[in-house]
Amino acid sequence: MPVPVRKAILPVGGLGTRFLPATKSLPKEMLPVVDKPLIQYAFEEGRAAGIEQFMVVTGRGKQAIEDHFDHAVELQDTLARRGRATALQLVRDSVPVPGQVSYTRQQDPLGLGHAVWCARHFIGDEPVAIILPDDLIIGEPGCLAQMVEAYRETGGTVIAAMEVPAEQVSSYGIITPGWTRDGLVEVRGLVEKPAAGTAPSRLAVIGRYIVQASLFAHLEGQEPGAGGEIQITDALTREIGAGPFNALLFEGRRFDCGDRTGWLEANIACALQRADMRPAVSALLASYG
Ligand code: UTP
Repeated sequence: MPVPVRKAILPVGGLGTRFLPATKSLPKEMLPVVDKPLIQYAFEEGRAAGIEQFMVVTGRGKQAIEDHFDHAVELQDTLARRGRATALQLVRDSVPVPGQVSYTRQQDPLGLGHAVWCARHFIGDEPVAIILPDDLIIGEPGCLAQMVEAYRETGGTVIAAMEVPAEQVSSYGIITPGWTRDGLVEVRGLVEKPAAGTAPSRLAVIGRYIVQASLFAHLEGQEPGAGGEIQITDALTREIGAGPFNALLFEGRRFDCGDRTGWLEANIACALQRADMRPAVSALLASYG
């Protein structure tokens, strides 16, 4: 039985340039999908997968995330006075139990691998989950819970993957696959953003990972890779062969909310799932032909 996954890193230190000017003062991870910020979807997915402690790797201008996970005393008092019980409950429900969420700052946005490395002291010797909040995955059970289930069988490293169209492979980390069984694919190699026509498959790495503490040794002093950023893919590549390394073709729908169109689609899809919104949103969409 592998060591259970109790901790998760939520990296939110990126600049979110694709959403400027919205992200000039608003963290990308606070963008709402319908009425809930992306960071809360990530937190809830982690909690549902059995994660007990979260480390949010923030950056300058991301204080709104810390405020979101705290009491809003004045607002809560006002809602209580006005008898707005439902709204009050929604505000209270977004507050984790004390001590469950910690924060550290990535002082320079040097890449996802660097952001993850900033959380190394929090991890110690344990396996850890990494959830990228801008990859929203709607599934039942959640994507990370599915990965934890697979990890219980396999141990080692488990990453989330999905097949993408050939013209999109150069936007992702792409897997060189080995054997496939029950939605699991053995990972024999990884290449970050391969040039068109050179990709080993169409299996793309999506923003959920369960990794071993040994990954942090690879991230230590790692040179920038694709795009001039310190890439997690390069460190993951060095774990191949060191233990089991598999990708899970998760069940559920993934939205790239770091991209404007993906975020818009997530809003439409999630609104259509809400009984109170579906008729109006369907009519609205129909009116655009
Ligand atoms: P992205 O690749 O989407 O980069 O990061 P970005 O900077 O957030 O956005 P764009 O491309 O400029 O629009 C994927 C995830 O990795 C985190 C981001 O916050 C996001 O959750 N990240 C990225 C960091 O924490 N630090 C970094 O240096 C880079």
